[in-house]
Amino acid sequence: MDHFSHSDGSLHCEGVPVAAIAAAVGTPTYVYSAATLRDHARRLADAWASLSPRICFSVKSCPNIAVLRTLVEAGTGMDVVSGGEIARALRAGCPASQIVYAGVGKSDEEIRLALRERVGLLNIESEPELENVQRLAEGASRAAHCALRVNPDVDPRTHRHTTTGTRETKFGVDLAQALAIFRRHGRNPFALLDGIHLHIGSPVYSTEPYVESVRRALALMDTLAADGIRIRTLDLGGGFGADYETGQSPDARRYAEAVTPLLAPRVRDGLEVILEPGRTIAANAGVLVTRVQYVKRGGAKTFVICDAGMHTLLRPSHYDAFHFMWPVHPAPGFVPARRAREMSMDGLEAVDVVGPLCETGDYLALDRELPPMSRGDLLAVFTAGAYGMSMSSRYNSHALPAEVLVDGAEARVIRRRETLDDLLAHEDPHGARIGIPAETAAP
Ligand SMILES: Cc1ncc(COP(=O)(O)O)c(C=O)c1O
Repeated sequence: MDHFSHSDGSLHCEGVPVAAIAAAVGTPTYVYSAATLRDHARRLADAWASLSPRICFSVKSCPNIAVLRTLVEAGTGMDVVSGGEIARALRAGCPASQIVYAGVGKSDEEIRLALRERVGLLNIESEPELENVQRLAEGASRAAHCALRVNPDVDPRTHRHTTTGTRETKFGVDLAQALAIFRRHGRNPFALLDGIHLHIGSPVYSTEPYVESVRRALALMDTLAADGIRIRTLDLGGGFGADYETGQSPDARRYAEAVTPLLAPRVRDGLEVILEPGRTIAANAGVLVTRVQYVKRGGAKTFVICDAGMHTLLRPSHYDAFHFMWPVHPAPGFVPARRAREMSMDGLEAVDVVGPLCETGDYLALDRELPPMSRGDLLAVFTAGAYGMSMSSRYNSHALPAEVLVDGAEARVIRRRETLDDLLAHEDPHGARIGIPAETAAP
């Protein structure tokens, strides 16, 4: 599953003791395993090999440039959702042709950047956006390949905050609208609309929603073909599950086996398939290492108060997400054999694992059974590589954590911990005056 293990009684990432990283760079720190990133990318590519898809890693899940570079070197393209993510993908060495760009609110500036850099595919989320891309592409005398994001109205059976493929969400256009948009705009010479984009939600632990949404997309393709509009690209999006507990997620092969029979004949006829996996590659490639500041006992509950909280890892409080966590140095008798919601060991203590923020919702786990924890202990929060650092914030004016990438026996800082100077760098106690022209100023 990944390259983190409690070998010799203490947590290692590949060949490096996690405690040594914490001693060198402090906490909280995200630690990523390059071998796990490569393994997961390779497993996914192998599973889908018969369709020869273009695999574009979803940058939003783990956007550090060194992580992206590791995956670019392993052969993945990049799925981006902003100008900032385009810049990251390019800085990581991803060829612009291997970038696919989604997002419901692309600004003119971002679209111009995508056109200038010749990003491979723009995933369009609405008709007004398509018209804007046509206008900007014509202005730049540059044609752009586009796919229309179709909302197939399929329930992915995941958390409501990460459901994107049902019609009441803001993403894409429904099937009837899609047909009309292709008919109206399918022959525009600047926004070359020859693709369909799907992304139904995340994480999706069952294969049926993929099968159903692909069926609906293929029916749309056939209707369009009858009108003489040929679809060359089908982007299935991401959303494949990750193991937050041992064995929780279907193997990459199960998703591929469910969908391949539908797509294999189309691929033989020239259809290109794109996948946009984030979590399934990055989640188990990262742990968050936090240090216990205090343990507060004697009241209604026992609180293990850490230097990481919802500002460092938002998923538990935002999505009710479960993250397995365990001491980096467990006492003898507490070395875990597997990661599960319920750990059957004598001597565990039910605690709330909380952060330092002034919010009741600032927690990493509630009523979690852990070995007895003490001030100064290191705690590892697993499966934190996706939507961990990327959703962190400076709330309560905490500086952002460090990030470290381990490859074999080597550990490198790939994002240094922010300092207090970094935290204050963009602010001006006096403010910089904006020159408002006199005629626009209020009387
Ligand atoms: C358009 C799109 N593609 C891909 C992804 C990646 O999803 P996951 O990380 O679950 O694979 C997302 C996630 O929100 C997305 O919005």
